[in-house]
Amino acid sequence: MRRLLVTGGAGFIGSNFVRYWIKQHPEDRVINLDVLTYAGNLESLTDIEAAPGYRFVHGDITDRQFVRRLMEDEQIDTVVNFAAESHVDRSILGPDAFITTNILGTFSLLEAARAVWGDFDSTQCFLHVSTDEVYGSLKADEPAFDEQHAYAPNSPYSASKASSDHLVRAYHHTYGMPVLTTNCSNNYGPYQFPEKLIPLTILNALEGKPIPVYGDGKNIRDWLYVDDHCGGIEAVLQGGIPGEVYNIGGINEWYNIDIVNLICERLDEHRPGADSYKAQITYVTDRPGHDRRYAIDAGRMQSELGWSPQHDFQSGIERTIQWYLDHRDWCDRVRSGEYRDYYVRQYGESENS
Ligand code: NAD
Ligand code: DAU
Repeated sequence: MRRLLVTGGAGFIGSNFVRYWIKQHPEDRVINLDVLTYAGNLESLTDIEAAPGYRFVHGDITDRQFVRRLMEDEQIDTVVNFAAESHVDRSILGPDAFITTNILGTFSLLEAARAVWGDFDSTQCFLHVSTDEVYGSLKADEPAFDEQHAYAPNSPYSASKASSDHLVRAYHHTYGMPVLTTNCSNNYGPYQFPEKLIPLTILNALEGKPIPVYGDGKNIRDWLYVDDHCGGIEAVLQGGIPGEVYNIGGINEWYNIDIVNLICERLDEHRPGADSYKAQITYVTDRPGHDRRYAIDAGRMQSELGWSPQHDFQSGIERTIQWYLDHRDWCDRVRSGEYRDYYVRQYGESENS
């Protein structure tokens, strides 16, 4: 039986992970520590909040003493660190929170774990959830990122994640902490905050708003259904070698514009209007420093841990679109005052205009 501290468990991937873990491991204790920024929503967890062994704790990972007491009280043996500022555009508009949470927050968690765990043993594990963005941008003909790829982060977000990865690595090499790091590609699925490309496209289409496509729309991302990421983290927790890095990815590269067109076509079927939703596609000024292509080589996950994605993109995107069609209330509630201000700063017009 494990006693997990899941940080950022009220966000997109964290809430899916908490749900996944409780289903797969009902005997385990799961403490969800989340400060509930704009991206954290307890409404994403209502179906599992009464599960035995589950507890939500409202708190900040940068508060080291608080984390330390929580880890002691709950006798935590496994930390899964999702908590982060995660949106690249926000990191360009204002990097401060990214430095605080992603770097100092991870440092605080590591220090709390070091203090509580003392002499490390094989039951303990600090799993740090990171991103493919730390590797920078690939050219069209370059091979996908493997675990040996050099770090070359290009945004304040990816630089802050890269920095946290280095701290995690150092705690293994210096103190012997049993750490694991996962670097994953773009996730999609239920409960993703609607500032990200896929939910933003679905909702702007349905709401008759412009669908913003940055630059020429030919940037490439490697998309993975969120449950497959959760399964990948489970595989790493169960079979990963302490101190090692595992790249998790969808083996599923798409141009942004092709995804946007696909979503429009699916919505034309689900909610037909006078015109195709494609008429709302609007090319806008590119994101500064926009990485051209990401792609993950998930070979290590496959050969060493027997993991591979279980969801193909056609069924995953269909399921995701259906989820957003069925959860308009959730979307309306999470897009509260703070999000409206951000939308004006990012896209230069009111979300409601
Ligand atoms: P998200 O923005 O949806 O959720 C982040 C969560 O962290 C929120 O619930 C927020 O309230 C919480 N949080 C933020 N600051 C905190 C703090 N100081 N203390 C406690 N909680 C705090 O993010 P996401 O998309 O679910 O990403 C989760 C993690 O996975 C991040 O570390 C991200 O870098 C990584 N990741 C994301 C993707 C992706 O495609 N979304 C891909 C690879 C890796
Ligand atoms: O690769 C993993 C990363 O994926 C995670 O580490 C990040 O936390 C996560 O946010 C995501 O980053 P991206 O920047 O790739 O995701 P986003 O959904 O913001 O954008 C996907 C692509 O779509 C990217 O090339 C930018 C483009 N885009 C995005 C938005 C929001 C648009 O063209 N228009 C938009 O309005």
